Amino acid sequence: MGRYFGTTPIFYVNDAPHVGHAYNALSVDAVCRWHRLLGDEVRFLTGTDEHGLKVMRSAQEAGRSPIEHADHNSGRFRDAWAEMNLANDDFIRTTEPRHHAAVQAMLQRAYDNGHIYQATYSGWYCVGCEAYYAEDDLIDDHACPIHKRPVEHMVEDNWFFRLSAFQKQLEDWFAATPGNVTPDGFRNEALGILRQGLEDVSISRSSIDWGISVPWDPDHVFYVWYDALINYATAVGYGTDQEQFDTWWPSVHHFVGKDILRFHTIYWPAMLMAADVEHLPTVHVHGFLLLGGEKMSKTGNVTKVAPSDLIADFGVDGFRHAVLRDHPFGPDSEFSYEALLSRYNVDLANNYGNLVSRVATVVAKKCNGIGPAPDPGSPLAAVVATAFAETAAAWERTQPSVALEATWRIIRQTNEYLQEREPWKMDAGPDVDAVMGDALEALRIATVLAWPSIPETAELAWKRIGMPGTVAEQRLPAAAQWGLYPGGVTVETGDPLFPRLKLT
Ligand code: MSP
Repeated sequence: MGRYFGTTPIFYVNDAPHVGHAYNALSVDAVCRWHRLLGDEVRFLTGTDEHGLKVMRSAQEAGRSPIEHADHNSGRFRDAWAEMNLANDDFIRTTEPRHHAAVQAMLQRAYDNGHIYQATYSGWYCVGCEAYYAEDDLIDDHACPIHKRPVEHMVEDNWFFRLSAFQKQLEDWFAATPGNVTPDGFRNEALGILRQGLEDVSISRSSIDWGISVPWDPDHVFYVWYDALINYATAVGYGTDQEQFDTWWPSVHHFVGKDILRFHTIYWPAMLMAADVEHLPTVHVHGFLLLGGEKMSKTGNVTKVAPSDLIADFGVDGFRHAVLRDHPFGPDSEFSYEALLSRYNVDLANNYGNLVSRVATVVAKKCNGIGPAPDPGSPLAAVVATAFAETAAAWERTQPSVALEATWRIIRQTNEYLQEREPWKMDAGPDVDAVMGDALEALRIATVLAWPSIPETAELAWKRIGMPGTVAEQRLPAAAQWGLYPGGVTVETGDPLFPRLKLT
């Protein structure tokens, strides 16, 4: 048994949640749920990023004060996450007093340690990214490479973080910690940034006041990124509850999109070092969900898809499963409604849902509605054992789509097994009982393993096959052992769990 502290980035409140955001948060939820099944102590943190120029300007456009705007949009993320059945243990907002205290404590510590100094800064700033760009990185006529909009030239008296001083320590950390950034391609990208050599970074702004003030210079607020990154530490008691912090921090795993890799794999670990925090995070990086080849986001002409629209069509679990299964964690992948629909129909309507109803119908007809016990020597036992090992290994590598593919192999092969034996054509008796006991047992195990993607439906199926308690209470690897379906319990028929859907 261990601990797992999984985090999403905190989402900017200038925008409403879209499927790109949802994909990130769902991945964390699913991996955390897997760890819950392993019996680990789990903490899942998400929240909203509410300071900075970008939020200030979008508040102005919306005719609201920054805090009214933040309240409004933060609420939309909270509601969307609840609608998606995310089991987050906390939802942090950077405008909360607990966060102000932690930011000031951590940066004061870095300042006291001599890692922060004052200097004048001038550079090209993209408000969309809330980041400065080197002239060489700009495209067209001084436009941001991500937002494709003109950057602004800014000159400011700033506080700087001596990032350059951490070059060697960061290199040592990468050398000593092979899995600190996953997948490997993104780890190489982080190493590439490191190899280019690090320059000091500006961490304060005097031009705006929508932020957390610098404790030793109240005319400045911390630049939004250095306020934001600290949320992860705030939420587990940094600066207020050392015991809680020591408990959770060593197990922290950040899930981030590739656009914010540099902040999480270089700047943030260096800040932690500057504030004498011993443990550094593990970072899991994913690509973008694209629409028409472009990152789904607010800028440009790219349309955004709201999770609630897809949930209306596919149901919560249909949405969760299709998104997690169809978008491998790592590469960019094109979002397509048709692909999700087809995934829903294949995996859920035709395979999982069909297996549940088929089994219940045959048991009702041929076994008086009482589920028989499985055969210890069933050919399905080996199928399950292999698929379980692959499922577990893939979750361990933070590869939800691969894990679900392995789990669904159990479901497909059980359907094939039924197709071959055709118990519905047999006379009631030991032969039918043997086939149905095996199918029920495979279904029981598949249901436990599928819980991270379809938590609500898995519970329904669990009840239908007559299992006591809940899936959430099951513990792996014990629950994946062949032979635990008790037999002699009532199996219920019911409405299809995942009705087949047509393209409208
Ligand atoms: N507020 C910062 C994060 C601070 S964390 C200390 C931020 N916010 S964001 O709302 O712009 O993005 C949040 C996350 O959503 C990022 O990981 C980003 O990569 C992800 N995504 C935004 N659009 C996305 C897609 N189209 N596809 C996949 N992920 C996407 O950055």
